[in-house]
Amino acid sequence: MTDNVLSIRELSCDFLAVEGIVYAVNGVNLDLRRAEIHGLVGESGCGKSVSARAVLGLLDRKRCRVGGSVDFDGNNLLLLSEREMRALRGRRISMIFQDPQNSLSPLETAGMQIEEAIANHLPAAKGERRRLAASLLERVGLPPDTAARYPFELSGGMQQRVMIAQAISCNPELLVADEPTTALDVTIQAQVLRLLETLRDELSLSVLLITHNFAVVAEVCDRVSVMYAGFIVETAEAAELIRFPAHPYSRALVNCIPKGRAAGGAGPLPVIPGFPPRLYEPPWGCPFSPRCPKRGSACAERPGSRDLGGGHVVFCHYPEYAPNGDRSFREAP
Ligand SMILES: Nc1ncnc2c1ncn2[C@@H]1O[C@H](COP(=O)(O)OP(=O)(O)OP(=O)(O)O)[C@@H](O)[C@H]1O
Ligand code: SF4
Ligand SMILES: [Mg+2]
Repeated sequence: MTDNVLSIRELSCDFLAVEGIVYAVNGVNLDLRRAEIHGLVGESGCGKSVSARAVLGLLDRKRCRVGGSVDFDGNNLLLLSEREMRALRGRRISMIFQDPQNSLSPLETAGMQIEEAIANHLPAAKGERRRLAASLLERVGLPPDTAARYPFELSGGMQQRVMIAQAISCNPELLVADEPTTALDVTIQAQVLRLLETLRDELSLSVLLITHNFAVVAEVCDRVSVMYAGFIVETAEAAELIRFPAHPYSRALVNCIPKGRAAGGAGPLPVIPGFPPRLYEPPWGCPFSPRCPKRGSACAERPGSRDLGGGHVVFCHYPEYAPNGDRSFREAP
């Protein structure tokens, strides 16, 4: 018996583009546990959204070859029909995206849109739907009069909360949130992240939280997987990975976390020199090697996984910490 809500195994997504095949996702493995917020983090273009869309069955299978398996409650989601997937997405799996403005209808009030989401999965009468919508608004921390307001009358943070109210209206087990706070300013972003934490605790919701921002990971994630050029390069508990990043790429990302929330003007953040590889041909060796300060002779071969203990796994020939099970040495100053 596993307590994983979602088990992704060897997920690969190859786009058939005019220029050739784009190897966007390469053998991704990821377990999402019950009631955890799992961060999927990495630079732009590394395959976070494509992975999420593959899980949700939202990729155009005519243009994208998808391989591997995605186990959700004993079902391989990759084998379900569009109809079966749509039914799951409405009831047990929900999603929210970066830009609420493009997801909400400008012509309907927030209350009407939440009621529609309820109607999609619950045969409730109008009065009952209205009552449920009001309680969802309360749950996401919005005042009752929000129900009568149109999206243009709401701030970005309020709109994102309306999206979250819609997403949790079916009491889902899994929420996929793709950059849900990127468009928001820092204070509102923190409030929305707190809300996700509350929902994880109160509804035992499992959240796959996609972000390119390690500060977001530090703020709310229980565990995190770092992605680079379509590969997962490291997975660990978030606090562990931020303190002891073993992969040179994770280390570089962690160094980009602003020191202190109010440190907006505290000087430029370090940048990672170089660019991610083109995804048209999968690299023979380690995908990070052209940018890696620790590159050595072994890196011409693609690295396999190394278990550092405590659920900390890294794909690197020369990880920062020896995989000898002895974690006490890390406590040295
Ligand atoms: N329909 C498509 N056809 C061809 N290539 C695509 C398609 N969709 C995505 N890609 C490519 O797949 C790669 C991964 O894209 P993806 O959207 O997953 O990146 P991401 O990690 O979500 O980046 P961001 O942080 O900018 O959202 C990119 O190189 C992108 O160009
Ligand atoms: S395998 Fe080699 S090139 Fe890749 S991250 Fe590790 S040290 Fe760097
Ligand atoms: Mg994306």
